[in-house]
Amino acid sequence: MIQTYNKNYTYPIPQNYFLFSRHMETVVSGIRSTGKLHLGNYYGAITNFLEMQNQYRCFFFIADLHSLTTHPTPHDLQSNVRQVLVEYLAAGIDPEKATIYIQSDVIEVAELYLYLNMNAYLGELERATSFKDKVRANPDNINAGLLTYPVLMAADILLHKATKVPVGKDQEQHLEMARTFGNRFNRLYKQEYFPEPYAYNHGKQLVKIPGLDGKGKMGKSEGEANAVYLSDDAETIRKKVMKAVTDSGPTEPNQTKPDYIQNLFDIMKVVSPEDTLQHFENLYNRCEIRYGDFKKQLAADMISATAEVRERIHAISADDAYIRKVVEQGAEKAHESARSTLKDVRELIGIRKF
Ligand code: TRP
Repeated sequence: MIQTYNKNYTYPIPQNYFLFSRHMETVVSGIRSTGKLHLGNYYGAITNFLEMQNQYRCFFFIADLHSLTTHPTPHDLQSNVRQVLVEYLAAGIDPEKATIYIQSDVIEVAELYLYLNMNAYLGELERATSFKDKVRANPDNINAGLLTYPVLMAADILLHKATKVPVGKDQEQHLEMARTFGNRFNRLYKQEYFPEPYAYNHGKQLVKIPGLDGKGKMGKSEGEANAVYLSDDAETIRKKVMKAVTDSGPTEPNQTKPDYIQNLFDIMKVVSPEDTLQHFENLYNRCEIRYGDFKKQLAADMISATAEVRERIHAISADDAYIRKVVEQGAEKAHESARSTLKDVRELIGIRKF
């Protein structure tokens, strides 16, 4: 499924890229540049991206401007952007099929953000759940960028006139705001210019990977030990899995599994062969399961399921020239789309042009 990384290959921009792709639906998704990817991201979001890049005109970008709301140090900002880029490429995002770029490289988005801000109202921005959550979590840093985060996100999407946005439930409200801002622009300038973007999952249900702490989904905010990262080495994965909470085992045949055990089985369902899963299900149901063995097997299967991606992360990360090439090419393709939108938008608004 994953195309092998070949550092000597120059990815061509198809000559008529934007001619033929204009008739395809456009997908835009922003990737938060908060560092390493874990298995939850991989089986959840990324496998979806891999399917979409074959069918749609896709723009995947690293949202470095959004991350400025929390004031990262220049060093952290740069290394996180690089890490995320490397890991998406390693996971199989193909710069020949999809446009992968860094948000700040296509600075037209800031101009569109400015225009959209003129029609975004304080009341609606203050009502956004994400804003209220952030105010509660960081009362000392309630900056205007945080307030207008949904406007920048709308600009990201409208910049390419996207209709499909692969995001999780927590982003639904932002998408609704993007539709509002786009429609308001259309009404104000009496043009059906921006199409309506909707949340989109590629046909199948998103796979949810639970965390190792037995409490919920895999995520980095829940603590290092809860998440297994694509870049973790085999030993680290083994240690994390062996530390996962278990108990003294089932006491009755076919007993319902407690959450923390069910979670481990759910991970096994994704990374292990069917007969391995069945084997441990049977042992559990007969009250013969030994959690030590179970976790050893789970760790081994997690390691082999991610081995290929891990190797590619190391190879790509060591190849500055390749990374630069991908970034330049992505910026160029995204620019072409952004330039044409901004040209129209300026004209619709009546920005002086003489
Ligand atoms: N807000 C999104 C998140 O937190 C990231 C994002 C920024 C995004 N701009 C976007 C997602 C545009 C989709 C489209 O995950």
